[in-house]
Amino acid sequence: MEYLEKQPLTEQVIIRLLRGEDLPALEWGGEYRHFRRLYADIYRSACQGKALMWVAELPDVGIIGQVFVQLSSGRRELADGVRRAYIYGFRIQPAYRGVGIGGRMLQIVEEDLLQRRFLFVTLNVARENVAALRFYQQHSYQVVAEEAGEWSYLDDTGRRREVHEPAWRMEKALTQRQS
Ligand SMILES: CC(C)(COP(=O)(O)OP(=O)(O)OC[C@H]1O[C@@H](n2cnc3c(N)ncnc32)[C@H](O)[C@@H]1OP(=O)(O)O)[C@@H](O)C(=O)NCCC(=O)NCCS
Repeated sequence: MEYLEKQPLTEQVIIRLLRGEDLPALEWGGEYRHFRRLYADIYRSACQGKALMWVAELPDVGIIGQVFVQLSSGRRELADGVRRAYIYGFRIQPAYRGVGIGGRMLQIVEEDLLQRRFLFVTLNVARENVAALRFYQQHSYQVVAEEAGEWSYLDDTGRRREVHEPAWRMEKALTQRQS
């Protein structure tokens, strides 16, 4: 225990694929309850091999971060199932931001995609989310297009919610890391 406390937070965190029983933890005690059906849909997609749901778990605390990867989708410019994958839903709990956990998650996701022989990663970042834009730029993502950012989902009560969030589409070509 004493040893664990001396370890940097980024080394204590376990980054792994989500298990079904982790789904409630993604609601962060209610803040993201409205995404319950969406998360269940993504989980079904993951069970079919079309998506990956990654989580960051801190022992004795629980799930403190998440990022989803769509391997194939109807929008082939985002994810085509072979070369191009799309990341979304990336979120680290506020108390754990800015210490390198997100960067480590992104690196693990990219390495996993390389092993799956994917060549490009795409994502959308809200135009007003300047901090996240900078985070992705630091990780070599480049803005390649504008996205209207209009989509909708059914919330936990079955009500349709419309989202309008103009975004930048960003992209990165994956390369093997030099050792
Ligand atoms: C973006 C995010 C996933 C990065 O994870 P992280 O663990 O904070 O990232 P790291 O610690 O590896 O890197 C920190 C960098 O991220 C950037 N960053 C973005 N949002 C940040 C935030 N809310 N708090 C702290 N840093 C943030 C900073 O620019 C920082 O760069 P710096 O070291 O030059 O200051 C995380 O900050 C987050 O959950 N933000 C809110 C949700 C969000 O915007 N998600 C992206 C949607 S596309």
